[in-house]
Formats: sequence, C-alpha cells, structure tokens
Amino acid sequence: MLPKFFIKARIYTFFLTVVLFGCQQPQPNSQQQQRSKQGMAVSAHPLASVAGLSVLQQGGNAVDAAAATALAISVVEPFSAGIGGGGFLLLRRAETGTVKALDFRERAPKRATRDMYLDKQGKVRPRASLDGHLAAGIPGTVAGLYTVHREYGKLPWAQVVAPAIALAENGFPVSSRFTKAVGGRLDAIKNNRAAREVFTRGGVLYKPGELLVQRDLARTLRSIAKNPQSFYTGDIARAIASDMAKNGGIMTLEDLKNYTPIWRNPVCGKFLAYEICAMSPPSSGGVHLLQILNILGDTDLKKWGRKSPDTLHLLAESMRIAYADRAEYLGDPDFVTVPVKALTSKNYGKLRRSQIDISKAKPSGLVKAVDAKTLSRFAYESPETTHLTVVDSERNVVSLTFTVNGGFGAGAVAAGTGILLNNEMDDFAAAPGVPNLFGLVGGEANAIAPGKTPLSSMTPVIVTENGKFRLAAGAPGGSTIITTVLQIVLNVLVYDMNVGEAVSAPRIHHQWQPDRLMVERGGFDAQTLSELRRRGHKIMERDSWGNANAIVLTPDGWLEGAADPRGEGEARGF
Ligand code: GLY
Repeated sequence: MLPKFFIKARIYTFFLTVVLFGCQQPQPNSQQQQRSKQGMAVSAHPLASVAGLSVLQQGGNAVDAAAATALAISVVEPFSAGIGGGGFLLLRRAETGTVKALDFRERAPKRATRDMYLDKQGKVRPRASLDGHLAAGIPGTVAGLYTVHREYGKLPWAQVVAPAIALAENGFPVSSRFTKAVGGRLDAIKNNRAAREVFTRGGVLYKPGELLVQRDLARTLRSIAKNPQSFYTGDIARAIASDMAKNGGIMTLEDLKNYTPIWRNPVCGKFLAYEICAMSPPSSGGVHLLQILNILGDTDLKKWGRKSPDTLHLLAESMRIAYADRAEYLGDPDFVTVPVKALTSKNYGKLRRSQIDISKAKPSGLVKAVDAKTLSRFAYESPETTHLTVVDSERNVVSLTFTVNGGFGAGAVAAGTGILLNNEMDDFAAAPGVPNLFGLVGGEANAIAPGKTPLSSMTPVIVTENGKFRLAAGAPGGSTIITTVLQIVLNVLVYDMNVGEAVSAPRIHHQWQPDRLMVERGGFDAQTLSELRRRGHKIMERDSWGNANAIVLTPDGWLEGAADPRGEGEARGF
C-alpha cells in the first residue's frame, strides 16, 4: 500500500515541480474539472487529493479517504489547517440517506476568561489572540477524524494515516503558495524556535520546489496511527501541555484529556427543488447560507442574469442582513440559545426580503439584527482554512472544512511534536464590537468562556435532489466562506454551470460590517460596478479569495469535481 502511494506521489511531485512551478498564477477557468465514475477526492493540494484517491483505490470509503486527505493536508498545507486545529464534517451515508454533522472545532481552555485579551484599560491587546500559545484553542482534528473513522470507516486507521506519515517523513516540494504563506507570517514564525526550525532554514525561506521534511510531525503521526488517544492523554499531550506552560499558554493536560468532538444535527432546508444541509452552530455557515437562500426565495435569478446589477444588489443586501444577524445571535449553542429555526425559516426570509429596496443599498448602520421578540415569532416554524470533498463508489459523501484559523495559526509549533498551533481563540469576540482577523464583530453570544467553542463561518454543504446526492462543496476564507459557498450553490442549482465553472466564477461578498461590497477584480464589467455604486454600494475590488472545491453527481451518474483555480488544489478520481 504505502509504496504504491509513494510511487504515485513521486511521479506526481515531479510533474508538479516541472509543470506547476513554471506556470503563472492560475486564472479562474474551468480547466481543473475532473470526471470519474467510481470515486473522487478534491482538496486544496494535489498531494492530499492523491492521498485520498489512493485510499479509495485501496477499497476505502469516503470516510477513510476524507480522513487520509485531511491528515495529508495537515502536512502539505499546514498554513491552512492541521492536527493542531479543528473543523466540521458533514457525512451523507448512502445507506440511510441521512446527513450527520461532526463538530471537531477547537474549544477554549478551562483557564480562558472573557477578558483574557484585554489590557488594564479594557482595550484589546493587539495580536494577543493571534500570535503565540495564548491564541490557541484545544485542537479537535485528531479526535474528530478518529471518531468518524471509528464509526464509519472501512480500512484500518493506520492505513488511513499512512500517506500523511509518508509525506512528512519523505518531504514534499513546497509551492510558491507555501513560501508566500511563510513569508506572510515570518515575524511570528521566527519568534518561535520550533516553528522556525520546521518552516524555514534558520529563518530563511525555502524556495519553491525545495523539499520540506517534517520529522517531528512524522513521529507524531506515527504515534497517532498507533493510538490516536496519545494526542490527548499520551506523549503528544504531555509535550503540548509542557510547551504551553513554558510559553505563556493556558492549555493544560486536563484540557486535552477532556476534549470531545460532538455529533450535531446539521441545519437543513429546501431551496427550489433541492434539500440543502450544512453545518449548524457553533458554525454560522449553515444558518446564514439557508437564511440568504430564503431571502432570495423564488426570485427568478436565472432570468435576472448572474452578473446583472439587480442580482448582485439583491445578493449583497441579503448578505448584509445575514451578517448583521450573525453578529447578534450566533455563538456556541451549548452556551447560548441560538435561534436557528427562526433565522432559517422561510417566513423570516420573506420578512427580510421585504425590507430590501432593489434600487438602493441600505447603509449597514441602518441594518440591524431584528430584536429577539420579533425573531421569536419565527422560532417554531417549520486570509485561511481548507476544504475537502470526497465521494465514494457507493455515493457516501464527506464535505469537510477545517482550519488553524489565520495563516500558520498562532505561528508557533509545540516543541518536539511538529504540531502547528491554531489561533482559533481570535474567532471569539475579544470585546463587543471589536473586529477579529476577518473584520467580523460579535457580542455577548460569542464572548469567551471556558470550554466554549468560538463561532465559525465554515460551511461544508451537501445538496440532494429527490433523495439523491447532487452537490457537495465548501471553501476557506474566514468570513467570506458563507458567501463563497452560497455562490457555488447558486451557480450549480440556478445557473446550471458545470462544477468547474461554478467554482471558478467571479464572486462578491458583503458582511454588513465593514460596510463595503467586495468584488473580485476583473470579474465584473465597469458598467455593472458603476450601477452598483449608483445604488449606494461602496465597492472594494479585491484579488481573488476562496479556494473552494466541489463535487457534483451528474444525472447520468458521473462524478464531476473541481478545485478552485485560485489555489493549487486538484480533483482526483478513478
Ligand atoms: N477560523 C475561521 C472560521 O472558522 O470561520
């Protein structure tokens, strides 16, 4: 098994080095679409997709392949996600036709306090929730992957971990995307000896194409392959806790021992003829994806045209409303009551739709979350992160998004383990109204408390039609995740795009605060932008964001998958 994977990986890395690194930055197009019958893995890195594919070819199911892909991502795309972070997974089992949701998000350590990032004057200490050990939440990736594998995997766990071990031990050629990511976090990385040793050569950046070997991480992964619990109670846990104690962190052995992933019900709702299921709180993704789809309702978007000013305006205003509600109501459902039913109800969508003026943008200062009493009327009506999508021959589907939060997380590695620590604590509201890394504001519902999970925007989604799998997708990008996934869903379900086009198409994003409409540079014509400005939108053109991926099942039974040409990912099928 292992040698086979190696040979493939070697051939592939040669190809990657010769071809990919010689290329210019990929432009959005539909070239990266793949088509296959048996099974498919799509992720943000070709070698991780190869790892997923090899596990499918060994007889593994979607759960085995998703775990293998995620662990490989932890090695080859550590700046986005890893075993030092956490995430969310949706699993649709063909046998039952049901969608399950697993929350393996990081949690706040027991010693976390509401004001832990404030100075004596009550002001947020700059970067305190972003850099170093204090920024880290208790990691959930290993527990999450093992939990889903133990219940639904087919192959032995060690076989699923093997590709990641190989990649860490033998190394992989770093891409220009990788070196750019290191460059962007060099200050934090240089500040932490273990991170400097792993990700630089004595503080100097690796060059694209050079091999990065991660021996400590390989040893850690070997230990996880033998006993995943070692991450939480064994040698690995002790190494993390001792490194925390030495570096001003608050995470303890007890915190690690007490970590548990949580099975939750996904949020599901109808849109046109489709059933959409996505991640429930503590991610805001599913709630606001459905909320926006409900606001759009049965508007004939196809007739309006995908890039027409009316469509873009309606999308932007719907997004603005959703993010205003997000800031008020969303948080960890084990700590606060999140009005999921109300926010995702069709009638609430209609109410919010009636508040949109199609000829004029409403300044965000005038858009508020509705008060709790009004909302209760609807209550009982019926810059990193990474995503991967896997479908197997039985049409089991995994849609998984996980992260270490900001690029290279906390910028610190737990010494001797190779584990990059997350900075997920920044996803809490450090103080009411103070924006986090993604410019998102929050309040009471997302205040820090021990054991609490920071609010997320991750939006793994699975769509079915007449009880049959149709589409699975997801994306990184912090606050932009929800709107990226929304647009992919609309591109496939409303605009009949193939998956490559759907993932590539230019995007917009509005998140209420700051009050600006982000549009992808070069994606929309000048006339449309000037009409949107005339309606009152503050347009900010930005280079691409998102790095999404998706798989669809075509009516004639083919799997079609695509990774975002904005990144370096690939779909791999057989
Ligand atoms: N760390 C980004 C998110 O969870 O939304």
